[in-house]
Amino acid sequence: MQQAEMVQRENWRTRFGFIMAAAGSAIGLGNIWRFPYLTGEHGGSAFIIIYLMCVIFVGLSIMIGEFAVGRKSGLAAVGAYKAHDRRWSFAGALGVLSGFFIMGFYPVVGGWSLAYMVKSVTGLLAVPEAVGDYFGAFVTSSVEPLIWMLIYLAINVYIVARGVQAGIETAGKILMPSLFVLLVILIIRSVTLPGATEGLKFLFAPDWSKVTGSTFLAALGQAFFSLSLGMGCMITYGSYLSKKENIPSNALTVVTMDTTAALLAAVAIFPALFSFGMEPAQGPGLVFVVVPTIFAQMGGVLGMIFSVFFFAVLTIAALTSSVSLLEVVVAYLIDEQKVERRKATILASTVMAIMCVLSSLSMGLLSGVTLFGVGFFDFFDILTDKIFLAIGGMFLAIFVGWFMDKEELRSELTNDGTVSFGFFELWYNLMKYFIPLAILAVAVMGITAIEQTSLMLFGLFIILAMMVFSKKL
Ligand code: PHE
Repeated sequence: MQQAEMVQRENWRTRFGFIMAAAGSAIGLGNIWRFPYLTGEHGGSAFIIIYLMCVIFVGLSIMIGEFAVGRKSGLAAVGAYKAHDRRWSFAGALGVLSGFFIMGFYPVVGGWSLAYMVKSVTGLLAVPEAVGDYFGAFVTSSVEPLIWMLIYLAINVYIVARGVQAGIETAGKILMPSLFVLLVILIIRSVTLPGATEGLKFLFAPDWSKVTGSTFLAALGQAFFSLSLGMGCMITYGSYLSKKENIPSNALTVVTMDTTAALLAAVAIFPALFSFGMEPAQGPGLVFVVVPTIFAQMGGVLGMIFSVFFFAVLTIAALTSSVSLLEVVVAYLIDEQKVERRKATILASTVMAIMCVLSSLSMGLLSGVTLFGVGFFDFFDILTDKIFLAIGGMFLAIFVGWFMDKEELRSELTNDGTVSFGFFELWYNLMKYFIPLAILAVAVMGITAIEQTSLMLFGLFIILAMMVFSKKL
């Protein structure tokens, strides 16, 4: 059945290309937009420490697991589970649904970034004190953000419709490295502003009094979101990975790069934020307010050039992520529903565009319309980030730990014994026992602490429904 694809499956042209594409998927709005504002909302360094724990003890192992499952089967999310055991298709399908829902709001923020690149030249930076109001006025307006979102989504469609190698690999390889350079430049500017040390204290001196069950859920969800885990994305990428590659070392590289990018973004933003006397818990507008303010204060052509460059790179980082989200959905339609690539891309992105229109309008025109107590943007965001990804990761850990053969995993991860993986036993036990229990504990803690309980229950209901109807998928 799936034999044909297995034989023809494309491989990444080079190890560098694969790392850049996987890191490109991981590094995106999650690092630069989401991580700083979550850190701001959850009290700074205590959140960062909990986040790092989640990355080290859960994220890294799950990434190794996803690469292994993908490469072993040579199939994308649903197919990879199904090839092993039909009853598990629901876990892959849940991933496809997550990718689909994340694409219900991600392109909205991608569109903001694209807009800011252009607006850096056309007035955004004119009055440093007005940058905050500028953001508010822009995102709550009805038509303009929609246009940027559609342009952003169209770029995704173009890249994905062209196929794996030509599109994703090239974009990632050329553009990811410049992000790091820009962040370092921003950090130098930010920490040399007057009063910047307050921001560094916020980032490095933990205040545990702000930590609750919802902090843990936010940190865990963010780890999954930022590392592109728990939804089959890294399974899909792993399926294109050559048999010669060392999976654990590739995973470690990607995780390190992703975490570095998030930390750099926080160090770039908070010293400046405190210097400007702004509020750390200002939510999703954070990066779109603090960073342009830095550039506006620099003034002149230099500030403008930096601003254009920053939002260009942020847009590209976002693109290499959303392309991978779209790819998960498209790969499912190609592998499992036998839809042709071009058609699958158009089909998926049309529905995504509709969801994004609702998300974008929920900031303004539709702000009164709620589902389970939240607007459309938050609906897609919370459902995926706080429930689906972590539970998806839990399913993967259970699948690997309890339903796959240990020795087969060992040979997959050591390339039939030709490369060493000294931590195999530790990794295996983390997957089998620790990770499922840890995720369960955090989920229970989070669900009871969080305000949106009815939305959480709705999410769990969807997961249950998928388990019941999985045979149809
Ligand atoms: N990791 C991406 C980011 O941080 C988002 C993403 C999530 C991409 C899940 C793919 C899968 O922006």
